[in-house]
Amino acid sequence: MLNLTLKTNRSWGSWAASHLDEILVDHVHCEKKAAGTAMNFLFRYPHIRLLQEPLAALAREELEHFEIVLKELDRKKIDFVPQKPSPYGQKVHRVIRDEEPAKLRDTLLCCAVIEARSCERLSLLSDVLEDLGLRELYKELLAAEARHHRIYVELAREISSAGFEDRLLEICSHESNVISRAQNLPRLHSGAGFMNS
Ligand SMILES: [Fe+2]
Ligand SMILES: [Fe+2]
Repeated sequence: MLNLTLKTNRSWGSWAASHLDEILVDHVHCEKKAAGTAMNFLFRYPHIRLLQEPLAALAREELEHFEIVLKELDRKKIDFVPQKPSPYGQKVHRVIRDEEPAKLRDTLLCCAVIEARSCERLSLLSDVLEDLGLRELYKELLAAEARHHRIYVELAREISSAGFEDRLLEICSHESNVISRAQNLPRLHSGAGFMNS
């Protein structure tokens, strides 16, 4: 089960499918970013043993996703163009506190909720895709993102279980606020006007 306090309206899927080229380019960037984020934990917290193997494996998997979606771009003859990072991730991360271990736990929970949102969006998109090959691929990818969501939640719980459920809910609500104010650009994490109230 994904921890999201606000769901995206199903109509987002058809809208995204009508901007598929841009969504695919954004998706490739998101996979690379997700790999980098997982790697960052390994560099920032080399002394926290329990993070190492799960996040090394997660980073590897995100890089595989990066290569897979990049291949889809090539198949569809879409250029992999640079793009300005979406402010979504940065805004979600504003909820992170400065003191450890709260900082680490908050960062893991932000990653968890971003994975959940990606999974939700890939699911809405895969439901309406006419390209059956891409639809199947997205189903596989979204299952992996759901698993990443759970890995981040469980790592955060292992870092500190004190007040865990309340903090998870606070961070989910914060993410919902961020995404409900996001611009309607063809990005995986966009979509003001597409959120259920
Ligand atoms: Fe991924
Ligand atoms: Fe992921």
